[in-house]
Amino acid sequence: MSLSYVLYGLVIALPSVFLGYYLYPRPSTLSIPAADPNKPAKSIMQPPREDLIPPKDDPFTIEQLKAFDGSDSSKPIYVAIKGDIFDVTHKADSYGKGKSYNIFAGKDGSRGLGKSSLKLEDAVADYSVLDEAERKVLDDWHSFFCKRYNIVGRVVSEPKI
Ligand code: HEM
Repeated sequence: MSLSYVLYGLVIALPSVFLGYYLYPRPSTLSIPAADPNKPAKSIMQPPREDLIPPKDDPFTIEQLKAFDGSDSSKPIYVAIKGDIFDVTHKADSYGKGKSYNIFAGKDGSRGLGKSSLKLEDAVADYSVLDEAERKVLDDWHSFFCKRYNIVGRVVSEPKI
Protein backbone atom coordinates (compact mmCIF):
# COMPACT_ATOMS: atom_id res chain seq x y z
CA MET A 1 0.00 0.00 0.00
CA SER A 2 1.48 3.33 -1.01
CA LEU A 3 1.88 6.31 1.30
CA SER A 4 -0.82 8.22 -0.57
CA TYR A 5 -3.41 5.55 0.35
CA VAL A 6 -2.44 5.85 4.04
CA LEU A 7 -2.71 9.66 3.93
CA TYR A 8 -6.06 9.43 2.11
CA GLY A 9 -7.33 7.03 4.79
CA LEU A 10 -6.26 9.41 7.55
CA VAL A 11 -7.98 12.39 5.88
CA ILE A 12 -11.24 10.42 5.79
CA ALA A 13 -10.91 8.77 9.21
CA LEU A 14 -9.71 11.62 11.47
CA PRO A 15 -12.71 13.95 11.05
CA SER A 16 -15.06 11.02 11.70
CA VAL A 17 -13.21 10.19 14.91
CA PHE A 18 -13.38 13.80 16.13
CA LEU A 19 -17.01 14.25 15.15
CA GLY A 20 -17.93 10.97 16.80
CA TYR A 21 -16.15 12.03 20.00
CA TYR A 22 -17.83 15.43 20.26
CA LEU A 23 -21.33 14.42 19.11
CA TYR A 24 -21.61 11.18 21.11
CA PRO A 25 -23.52 11.92 24.36
CA ARG A 26 -21.01 11.14 27.12
CA PRO A 27 -22.21 9.85 30.52
CA SER A 28 -20.79 12.88 32.36
CA THR A 29 -23.00 15.26 30.38
CA LEU A 30 -26.03 12.99 30.55
CA SER A 31 -25.86 12.60 34.31
CA ILE A 32 -26.28 16.34 35.08
CA PRO A 33 -29.89 16.68 36.27
CA ALA A 34 -31.97 19.38 34.58
CA ALA A 35 -32.59 22.50 36.75
CA ASP A 36 -35.91 22.22 38.61
CA PRO A 37 -38.01 25.25 37.53
CA ASN A 38 -40.04 24.99 40.76
CA LYS A 39 -37.02 25.53 43.00
CA PRO A 40 -35.82 29.14 43.55
CA ALA A 41 -32.40 29.86 41.99
CA LYS A 42 -29.58 29.61 44.53
CA SER A 43 -28.32 33.12 45.37
CA ILE A 44 -24.72 34.04 46.08
CA MET A 45 -26.07 36.59 48.59
CA GLN A 46 -26.63 35.57 52.21
CA PRO A 47 -30.20 34.43 53.00
CA PRO A 48 -32.60 36.55 55.14
CA ARG A 49 -32.38 35.94 58.91
CA GLU A 50 -35.09 34.78 61.28
CA ASP A 51 -33.44 35.96 64.51
CA LEU A 52 -33.48 39.76 64.14
CA ILE A 53 -34.39 41.91 67.15
CA PRO A 54 -36.91 44.78 66.93
CA PRO A 55 -35.34 47.95 65.45
CA LYS A 56 -33.81 50.42 67.93
CA ASP A 57 -33.78 54.18 67.41
CA ASP A 58 -30.75 55.13 69.52
CA PRO A 59 -29.44 58.44 68.13
CA PHE A 60 -25.98 58.57 66.48
CA THR A 61 -24.45 61.63 64.88
CA ILE A 62 -22.43 61.11 61.68
CA GLU A 63 -19.37 61.89 63.81
CA GLN A 64 -20.23 59.16 66.36
CA LEU A 65 -20.93 56.68 63.56
CA LYS A 66 -17.33 57.00 62.30
CA ALA A 67 -16.08 55.01 65.31
CA PHE A 68 -17.84 51.92 63.91
CA ASP A 69 -16.03 51.73 60.57
CA GLY A 70 -14.27 48.43 61.21
CA SER A 71 -10.86 49.89 61.99
CA ASP A 72 -11.16 48.88 65.68
CA SER A 73 -11.88 45.14 65.82
CA SER A 74 -13.17 45.42 69.41
CA LYS A 75 -16.11 47.55 68.21
CA PRO A 76 -19.12 46.55 66.13
CA ILE A 77 -19.31 47.62 62.46
CA TYR A 78 -22.24 49.81 61.44
CA VAL A 79 -23.58 50.74 58.00
CA ALA A 80 -26.30 53.37 57.71
CA ILE A 81 -28.81 53.51 54.87
CA LYS A 82 -31.37 56.34 54.64
CA GLY A 83 -30.56 57.11 58.28
CA ASP A 84 -31.19 53.60 59.64
CA ILE A 85 -28.06 52.14 61.25
CA PHE A 86 -27.44 48.42 60.65
CA ASP A 87 -25.08 46.26 62.68
CA VAL A 88 -23.09 44.37 60.02
CA THR A 89 -20.43 43.03 62.42
CA HIS A 90 -21.09 39.41 61.48
CA LYS A 91 -20.17 40.28 57.87
CA ALA A 92 -16.75 41.68 58.78
CA ASP A 93 -15.43 39.70 55.79
CA SER A 94 -17.28 42.21 53.57
CA TYR A 95 -17.33 45.41 55.68
CA GLY A 96 -14.20 45.10 57.84
CA LYS A 97 -11.02 47.10 57.37
CA GLY A 98 -9.60 46.60 53.86
CA LYS A 99 -12.57 44.49 52.70
CA SER A 100 -14.63 45.09 49.53
CA TYR A 101 -17.49 47.03 51.12
CA ASN A 102 -15.62 48.81 53.91
CA ILE A 103 -16.36 52.01 51.98
CA PHE A 104 -19.89 51.89 53.48
CA ALA A 105 -18.79 51.19 57.07
CA GLY A 106 -19.04 53.84 59.79
CA LYS A 107 -21.15 56.14 57.63
CA ASP A 108 -24.35 56.59 55.69
CA GLY A 109 -23.38 55.84 52.09
CA SER A 110 -26.90 55.86 50.64
CA ARG A 111 -25.93 57.73 47.46
CA GLY A 112 -23.25 55.16 46.56
CA LEU A 113 -25.63 52.25 47.13
CA GLY A 114 -28.26 53.89 44.91
CA LYS A 115 -25.70 54.59 42.17
CA SER A 116 -24.08 51.13 42.52
CA SER A 117 -20.83 52.97 43.07
CA LEU A 118 -17.88 52.09 45.25
CA LYS A 119 -16.29 55.54 44.78
CA LEU A 120 -15.39 57.29 48.02
CA GLU A 121 -17.01 60.54 46.88
CA ASP A 122 -20.34 58.75 46.32
CA ALA A 123 -20.43 57.11 49.78
CA VAL A 124 -22.40 59.98 51.32
CA ALA A 125 -25.81 60.26 52.97
CA ASP A 126 -27.37 62.80 50.58
CA TYR A 127 -29.34 60.76 48.06
CA SER A 128 -31.42 63.67 46.73
CA VAL A 129 -29.42 63.55 43.47
CA LEU A 130 -30.58 60.00 42.65
CA ASP A 131 -32.99 59.44 39.77
CA GLU A 132 -36.05 57.21 40.07
CA ALA A 133 -34.28 53.99 39.08
CA GLU A 134 -31.39 54.70 41.47
CA ARG A 135 -33.85 55.38 44.32
CA LYS A 136 -35.38 51.98 43.63
CA VAL A 137 -31.92 50.37 43.84
CA LEU A 138 -31.33 52.18 47.14
CA ASP A 139 -34.71 51.03 48.51
CA ASP A 140 -33.91 47.46 47.46
CA TRP A 141 -30.63 47.65 49.40
CA HIS A 142 -32.51 49.07 52.40
CA SER A 143 -34.90 46.13 52.41
CA PHE A 144 -32.01 43.68 51.81
CA PHE A 145 -30.33 45.04 54.96
CA CYS A 146 -33.61 45.10 56.96
CA LYS A 147 -33.95 41.35 56.35
CA ARG A 148 -30.36 40.52 57.34
CA TYR A 149 -29.07 42.99 59.93
CA ASN A 150 -30.33 44.42 63.22
CA ILE A 151 -31.16 48.12 63.22
CA VAL A 152 -29.29 49.59 66.19
CA GLY A 153 -30.12 53.29 65.79
CA ARG A 154 -30.88 56.33 63.64
CA VAL A 155 -28.56 58.99 62.30
CA VAL A 156 -29.35 62.39 63.82
CA SER A 157 -27.98 65.78 62.89
CA GLU A 158 -25.11 67.22 64.95
CA PRO A 159 -26.31 69.01 68.08
CA LYS A 160 -26.44 72.81 67.61
CA ILE A 161 -23.86 74.58 69.77
C1 HEM B 1 -17.79 43.52 39.53
C2 HEM B 1 -18.64 44.04 40.39
C3 HEM B 1 -19.16 43.31 41.60
C4 HEM B 1 -19.10 42.01 41.95
C5 HEM B 1 -18.44 40.85 41.19
C6 HEM B 1 -19.77 41.88 43.23
C7 HEM B 1 -19.92 40.69 43.90
C8 HEM B 1 -20.64 40.54 45.06
C9 HEM B 1 -20.86 39.29 45.76
C10 HEM B 1 -20.32 37.93 45.29
C11 HEM B 1 -21.60 39.54 46.84
C12 HEM B 1 -22.11 38.54 47.85
C13 HEM B 1 -21.01 38.10 48.76
C14 HEM B 1 -20.86 38.92 49.98
O1 HEM B 1 -21.85 39.10 50.72
O2 HEM B 1 -19.76 39.40 50.28
C15 HEM B 1 -21.84 40.98 46.86
C16 HEM B 1 -22.55 41.63 47.82
C17 HEM B 1 -22.71 42.99 47.88
N1 HEM B 1 -22.32 43.90 46.93
FE1 HEM B 1 -21.25 43.51 45.31
N2 HEM B 1 -20.22 43.09 43.61
C18 HEM B 1 -19.88 43.99 42.65
C19 HEM B 1 -20.14 45.33 42.62
C20 HEM B 1 -20.76 46.02 43.63
C21 HEM B 1 -20.98 47.46 43.64
C22 HEM B 1 -20.58 48.43 42.53
C23 HEM B 1 -21.60 47.75 44.81
C24 HEM B 1 -22.00 49.13 45.22
C25 HEM B 1 -23.20 49.41 45.68
C26 HEM B 1 -21.78 46.49 45.53
C27 HEM B 1 -22.38 46.36 46.76
C28 HEM B 1 -22.60 45.16 47.40
C29 HEM B 1 -23.23 45.05 48.70
C30 HEM B 1 -23.71 46.20 49.58
C31 HEM B 1 -23.31 43.68 48.99
C32 HEM B 1 -24.00 43.05 50.19
C33 HEM B 1 -23.02 42.49 51.19
C34 HEM B 1 -23.83 41.94 52.37
O3 HEM B 1 -24.15 42.72 53.27
O4 HEM B 1 -24.14 40.76 52.34
N3 HEM B 1 -21.26 45.48 44.79
N4 HEM B 1 -21.24 41.54 45.78
